[in-house]
Amino acid sequence: MKQSLTASSSSSSLIRRARLSPYLLALLVFTVFVVILHGEDFMCLLGQLDPSPDRPATRTEKKWEELPFSIGRTPEGCDLFSGRWVWDDSTRPLYEESECPYIQPQLTCQEHGRPDKDYQHWRWQPHGCDLPSFNATLMLETLRGKRMMFVGDSLNRGQYVSMVCLLHRLIPEDQKSMETFGSLTVFTAKEYNATIEFYWAPFLLESNSDDAVIHRVSERIVRRGSINKHGKNWKGVDIIVFNTYLWWMTGLDIKILQGSFEDETKDIVELSPEDAYRMAMKSMLRWVRKNMNRKNTRVFFTSMSPTHQKSIDWGGEPGRSCYSETSPVDNATYWGSDCRRSIMEKRCAYLNLQEAMESIDT
Ligand SMILES: *[C@@H]1O[C@H](CO)[C@@H](O)[C@H](O)[C@H]1NC(C)=O
Ligand SMILES: *[C@@H]1O[C@H](CO)[C@@H](O)[C@H](O)[C@H]1NC(C)=O
Ligand SMILES: *[C@@H]1O[C@H](CO)[C@@H](O)[C@H](O)[C@H]1NC(C)=O
Repeated sequence: MKQSLTASSSSSSLIRRARLSPYLLALLVFTVFVVILHGEDFMCLLGQLDPSPDRPATRTEKKWEELPFSIGRTPEGCDLFSGRWVWDDSTRPLYEESECPYIQPQLTCQEHGRPDKDYQHWRWQPHGCDLPSFNATLMLETLRGKRMMFVGDSLNRGQYVSMVCLLHRLIPEDQKSMETFGSLTVFTAKEYNATIEFYWAPFLLESNSDDAVIHRVSERIVRRGSINKHGKNWKGVDIIVFNTYLWWMTGLDIKILQGSFEDETKDIVELSPEDAYRMAMKSMLRWVRKNMNRKNTRVFFTSMSPTHQKSIDWGGEPGRSCYSETSPVDNATYWGSDCRRSIMEKRCAYLNLQEAMESIDT
């Protein structure tokens, strides 16, 4: 599940691979948000990290119980993020491509003649427990009076569209709308007074790739300390889902702008992708600390999606592409065929968000 379409390459194999994404993403969305719906006392990624690590577990658990939209670890200690994809013929797919008018034309696989359908049947199965089945009515009720926003690149755009596809059928035609305002796209469920939104910001920070439509620039420049440039548009959101990764993977150092994009002579330094990415993570966390209320809002971070371009990843011959592969790579330790694993490893980012939250001065 790689978000190929925002990558600068436009080769047809990338496009073929991209066809898989919205469906796997739909499944991922399902697995993540079905839990939110049930409002059980799961641990959230960011929203309810306990600042005092030596606090007794029972007290912490009690506190978790009071918080809505939490997810992560069940009271029984089941880590929902530790699991595998299973093929499920009986409860999948959750929606048909043809029933959802919101999928971008470049991602409507079946309309473009994709013959196989298995890719719609994958379901996330945690190792330690079962997830409850998805209930769109309950999801909409839970979102009543709330704003939910996905922020990031096309990976999150896919998550956003999948979420809308999962819910829109329950809403009559005249009670829903989808509108775009520059970087922001808003789906409104009127009678629920709820919105599900997507905000294009592939680096989270201000960059020269921020145009929501024309953003394939070869030399990417990211502005240091600029999270509020986009962040001002995220304020007041109840549930926010961030992602950023692929755009940092140019294979080169990242150009970091110190001043502003308007400066005549631009002050630019180069950082390794690891350092640049860490800088963005810290900015994001500071923004979260300052703007989200951990009592009644929720923050999620979607990490990388492994690239999958080579036949050998499916046990095929070296030197061949992923052409005509139709199932996910069956290897639980697979990191992607050309990933910069160091970016996601503990010292950098995702796995260590909790520590990062605690180490950042507010
Ligand atoms: C879905 O949730 C709604 C609202 O809570 C509930 O009334 C309904 O019974 C649920 N449906 C299923 C199939 O569990
Ligand atoms: C609709 O939801 C917004 C929050 O998104 C809230 O501020 C407003 O009061 C709600 N309006 C009604 C009529 O419930
Ligand atoms: C699974 O992926 C890992 C990491 O990419 C690799 O080292 C290992 O050889 C793979 N295992 C199989 C059975 O292909």
